[in-house]
Amino acid sequence: MTTQTSALTATNTPKTHTSHATTDAQPIMQLTGITKSFQAGEQRIQILHNINLNIYQGEMVAIIGQSGSGKSTLMNILGCLDQPSSGEYLIFGDPIKRLDADQLAKLRREHFGFIFQRYHLLGDINAQDNVAIPAVYAGTDHSIRMQRAQQLLAELGLADKTHNRPSQLSGGQQQRVSIARALMNGGEIILADEPTGALDSKSGEDVMAILQRLNRQGHTVIMVTHDPNIAAQANRVIELKDGHIVADYQNPSSNHSHHQSSSTEKAYSLHKKNSLSAFIDRLLEAFKMSLLAMKAHKMRTLLTMLGIIIGIASVVSIVGLGKGSQEQILSNISSLGTNTITIADGYPWGDPRRRYHNKNLTPEDAQAVSAQPYIVSVSPQIDATATARYRNIQESINISGIGEDYLKVTGEKLAQGQGFDAQSIRHRTQDIIIDNNAKRTFFANEANPIGKVILIGNVPGRVIGVLAPNKDAFSASDSPTLYMPYTTMMSRIQGSTYIERFVALVDSGYASSAAENAIKELLISRHGEEDFRIRNSDSIRKTIEATTTSMTLLISSIAVISLIVGGIGVMNIMLVSVSERTNEIGVRMAVGARQSDIMQQFLIEAILVCLLGGTLGVLLAFMIGEGINSLGSEDFKVLYSPTSIIAAFVCSTLIGILFGFLPARSAAKLNPVEALSRD
Ligand SMILES: Nc1ncnc2c1ncn2[C@@H]1O[C@H](COP(=O)(O)OP(=O)(O)OP(=O)(O)O)[C@@H](O)[C@H]1O
Ligand SMILES: [Mg+2]
Repeated sequence: MTTQTSALTATNTPKTHTSHATTDAQPIMQLTGITKSFQAGEQRIQILHNINLNIYQGEMVAIIGQSGSGKSTLMNILGCLDQPSSGEYLIFGDPIKRLDADQLAKLRREHFGFIFQRYHLLGDINAQDNVAIPAVYAGTDHSIRMQRAQQLLAELGLADKTHNRPSQLSGGQQQRVSIARALMNGGEIILADEPTGALDSKSGEDVMAILQRLNRQGHTVIMVTHDPNIAAQANRVIELKDGHIVADYQNPSSNHSHHQSSSTEKAYSLHKKNSLSAFIDRLLEAFKMSLLAMKAHKMRTLLTMLGIIIGIASVVSIVGLGKGSQEQILSNISSLGTNTITIADGYPWGDPRRRYHNKNLTPEDAQAVSAQPYIVSVSPQIDATATARYRNIQESINISGIGEDYLKVTGEKLAQGQGFDAQSIRHRTQDIIIDNNAKRTFFANEANPIGKVILIGNVPGRVIGVLAPNKDAFSASDSPTLYMPYTTMMSRIQGSTYIERFVALVDSGYASSAAENAIKELLISRHGEEDFRIRNSDSIRKTIEATTTSMTLLISSIAVISLIVGGIGVMNIMLVSVSERTNEIGVRMAVGARQSDIMQQFLIEAILVCLLGGTLGVLLAFMIGEGINSLGSEDFKVLYSPTSIIAAFVCSTLIGILFGFLPARSAAKLNPVEALSRD
């Protein structure tokens, strides 16, 4: 290493080092009467007994002892991964008892660097990303942390391995990556539990050389080891036996000297982002990790999503179908004119008197209604059947006497010719309009029926108009229909003075129910009693809307149940994912992740699974809808409303949050030591 500033230098090291042998120095770690006991079945077993220990800045301490003597337990307490059962532990003079989980995480993040016997690198990401993790939680700028990770790796001889995954590295290389990670945020105090335990002797020597160099540069190093040769390289040895400190001595063989450390490193930690962009950065990191986790278990992710996919697809297509058929029915109704009221001859429905045909609804009644300000137009109507003949074609037909406003009221269109006007009605012209069926029946071989004369019974009628084919699903029939002025019909065909019904088109500015009541009153005053039937297209429309809406609601609620089942599937898989990645959670906590960071990571994963499931569900719904629509059925169409699609996404996000919460919280509440010890 050259005289150049090294990234390996500790962040917060003082300008001068004072050995703890000199009496007035303040220890950085101070343990008084520390005990640790575990519940083992019925009884509590005590692992650590009355540990009194001071550790000073710049020391290199080896903790030795037999297996099971409590070395790792002590180490975990020193590193704030675990809490003592009793006793006082001060770090930098502050009692850790008073710190909550997040403050402990901050302590680990900013002051400690952990090195484990089995490296504990995250297998899904490369060396450089592994090294950079502590800086993510510290809120360091992305480019700065990547650059620093690169530099640290280079100084540890891994410049060409930055993009290797842990599985593509040797044990010694992995341990060096984990040393780089420990140094990422400064690594003022390095805690190494058997750092050479899994390494061959050459790699072990390399690691020890690095640790010694770090110690010379000002890092405080505390390590646990079995190996007396390694302990001999420390300047202080603490020996544990059955949870008691049985020896604590300066190593006579170590000629330990401290180099004055530079404090230029400080500059690095100043490159922190503001809290919002650091938060977004951590979100992105969590997002990246979630994607990696989902990618690692594609099949499982897909199966988990299946519940959501089916749920969302069924909700969206059922709502679409409901909307489609509703629209279809409503458009059929609107072909009767947007807002019409039909007044028909006969007592009202359910009236115990004669059921039909009072024969007292007259054209004058229609005119009286037509004169009202809220009525745009009125079309009287009489219906009959007759036999019609044109040349040698004879056919039974429907014939309707209509008013001049008939087309306006029904919304039907002319394909050829013209309709009736006031003159036709007044002069009882013998003009007729024919529908498309009649045109096909009588004029199959003639291009233009206009001007031709059809005999209705023995009354001749001249064709002046042809209606466009009727797409109306309700009234579509194959029987030919002819129309003539109702006045002509009354005098020439029926020989009567009454009409069967009339349809009134209500001005759009008026409420149809108010118009209906006004018409009712007007006709009662004319007739002396309610001897007519009145029907409002608007109320039919409302009834149909209400029925289809409640049908949609009903079926949707069934689909919602399937969504909930899907959500429980997501929860289940998230619990599996948490238990599978317990070790990763432990590592993240050791390098300083907050509980909220862990929580976020798993919540994001749950939401991502659900959102992806939701997207696939919407796509599936589109495919189903396309399938149904391509069948070409006139009155069975799927109509997608943006609201149902937005609702699907909101719904899947909510499911993700709802069912991801429990697993995410259980991950966040894990004890770091327990998490680390699990594989
Ligand atoms: N969570 C726990 N619950 C119960 N007992 C525990 C727990 N963790 C550790 N112990 C016990 O505490 C004792 C000390 O364990 P520790 O891991 O500290 O030993 P060690 O000195 O590090 O040993 P080794 O050298 O084998 O790593 C052991 O007897 C172990 O069984
Ligand atoms: Mg141990």
